[in-house]
Amino acid sequence: MFIVFIGPPGVGKGTQANMLAEKYPMFKISTGDLLREAIREKTTLGERAKSFMERGELVPDALVIELVNEKVSTTSKDINSFIFDGFPRTIEQAKQLDGLLLSKKSSISVAVNFAMDEEERVTRLSGRRMCPKCQRTYHIKFAKPKIDNLCDYCNVDLIQRSDDDEAVIRQRSSVYWEQTRPLLDFYDQRNLLQTIDASRNIDLVFKDLDNFVANLKK
Ligand code: AP5
Repeated sequence: MFIVFIGPPGVGKGTQANMLAEKYPMFKISTGDLLREAIREKTTLGERAKSFMERGELVPDALVIELVNEKVSTTSKDINSFIFDGFPRTIEQAKQLDGLLLSKKSSISVAVNFAMDEEERVTRLSGRRMCPKCQRTYHIKFAKPKIDNLCDYCNVDLIQRSDDDEAVIRQRSSVYWEQTRPLLDFYDQRNLLQTIDASRNIDLVFKDLDNFVANLKK
């Protein structure tokens, strides 16, 4: 099963991808997390991606596709269910993903469109906190850690992402509308698109996703 999560910044893609991967034997590939890891490890790819991310722009397709190819090909052969969080983000990435899955005699099972208003997303992102070790996300109001500002799993201080600055959030949103939004038509034309109302609380959104996955498994 191959699930794609599409949606503007702050809509809750990463939160829901983690929840699905905890409930089902599914492997999560989050290109944002992979790119941040590459920057932390100062790899050549990370160094090239850094300035694009700081400006809130998309990292060039070739770099992102290289990362995804590597991750998929090095994942255990026993894993055959993947959640792609934040990938693809352009039509070119979607075509490359189709090619990659075709080589595995497979295809996308569903593309989930997370929909909600911009202002609420800005509130979510400005209150987001992240564990620098495991990359789990929290929120100062909506998803608090058990102990103030400490990761529940790693016991280290939470940080704020540098691109969660309001001006960069708005830039990331406008990049979404220009470059990623066309993917909704791309998947809709293939009858693969499901839209969920992502403005509801975390558990209600998860209930919808869980239903999609349960139906796909039937
Ligand atoms: P990436 O890390 O993917 O960022 P994004 O898409 O902008 O998405 P976010 O991580 O900001 O939000 P999210 O939807 O995952 O929300 P979350 O669950 O954290 O990408 C970062 C950058 O990397 C890009 O700008 C680009 O430069 C580059 N990049 C990545 N992929 C790329 C690609 N494929 N091609 C090219 N470049 C790429 O939730 C947000 C907050 O809200 C959290 O605090 C959470 O606790 C809270 N929350 C979540 N759900 C709810 C809810 N239902 N109710 C209340 N609060 C909630």
